[in-house]
Amino acid sequence: MSQLASNLQIDSARLWGTILETAKFGGTPKGGIRRLTLTAEDKQVRDWFRAACEAAGCEVHIDALGSMFALRRGRDMSKPPIGLGSHLDTQPTGGKFDGILGTLAALEVVRTLNDAGIETELPICIANWTNEEGSRFVPAMMASAAYVGDFTTDDILSRQDIEGITVGEALDSIGYRGDVPVGTQKFTSFVELHIEQGPILEAEGKTIGVVDSGQGVLWYDGQITGFESHAGSTPMTLRRDALATLSEIVLAVERIARGFGPRAVGTIGEAVIASPSRNVIPGEIAFTVDMRSADADIMEHLHKALMDAAAEIAAHRKVAVKIEKVWHKPPTHFDKTLVDAVETAAQALGYSHRRITSGAGHDACNLNTIMPTAMVFVPCKDGISHNELEDATQADCTAGANVLMHTVLALAGVASK
Ligand code: GLV
Ligand code: MN
Ligand code: MN
Repeated sequence: MSQLASNLQIDSARLWGTILETAKFGGTPKGGIRRLTLTAEDKQVRDWFRAACEAAGCEVHIDALGSMFALRRGRDMSKPPIGLGSHLDTQPTGGKFDGILGTLAALEVVRTLNDAGIETELPICIANWTNEEGSRFVPAMMASAAYVGDFTTDDILSRQDIEGITVGEALDSIGYRGDVPVGTQKFTSFVELHIEQGPILEAEGKTIGVVDSGQGVLWYDGQITGFESHAGSTPMTLRRDALATLSEIVLAVERIARGFGPRAVGTIGEAVIASPSRNVIPGEIAFTVDMRSADADIMEHLHKALMDAAAEIAAHRKVAVKIEKVWHKPPTHFDKTLVDAVETAAQALGYSHRRITSGAGHDACNLNTIMPTAMVFVPCKDGISHNELEDATQADCTAGANVLMHTVLALAGVASK
């Protein structure tokens, strides 16, 4: 690699500027972002992103699930590009960095290469994957899952949000149902930069997480059917209370996950009483369960323990509990060669680093099933994410973008002049 390329650094102020500038699309009073996938706010950031990629000389195309691909040509166009990017959608009360850092850093890499007049041997291609978060449409990371063949495009297009709007309708409403079939844009390999979303890097004072694995995910939809009755006149012994039942299930999920120490987590993040009223004993409740582990055997135990606990609680409370598995993502083991490439880049740039397992799911975890993939993590403040308080320093974001760029340069190769 030329000296120019090996000494190259991204423009820290420009990267930070784009993070702050795009945070206005769906920005909340508490400094976070509410930018649910395929909403008007998502369209705003997508339009901004398309224009910025085109201004950086990329050719942008959109696939049938709305994922955006911005191609920067290389000297050898006979090979698929090196992919880099993440997602621009957020949680309902999300922060300014989850997904956004990886996508905007990818743009910054292209801008930096342009400014330095560096041509890569292989092309490179920025991706913004649709619905990484999964809070409007299930499953999370649905577009990259369809991309790798886990779901058909039609299946995903028919998924509905809580108001019955399908993915297809939502894509049309913002004009992002593209004409490129899902899976058309091939990649030689893919690298995603992300905030850690956990406390490890910060606690250990490390700048870069070299992600070598990711937790598997189990998602369930649950339904409890008890019996509505009068809060004043129904004796405690005669109740079939759906909410009291849910309380036991919540504690069971906590107990089951804790039983595996730090190697498993379990959460009930949604619970809706069908017709809540303070003087009616709840009769119907819908809820979700999210359980994760990086160990496939533990995931099997989590599943079985949840089913057993639900059956036992339902029997002694005399209510019906239905729990349906709606998503099963096995643990991820990222490509060894690519993980080494990330580590080499972090080392060469002089950043402190450590290997790390991702607690969160990422599009990269899906992509890794069909192509060599790796991830770069940077610390986030107090390990907080999926929260408007989510924060990361400019210096750490810059370091992550530099590692991303140098990993991509190593993979794509610098064309000699
Ligand atoms: C994605 O944000 C996840 O749930 O890990
Ligand atoms: Mn994310
Ligand atoms: Mn997220």
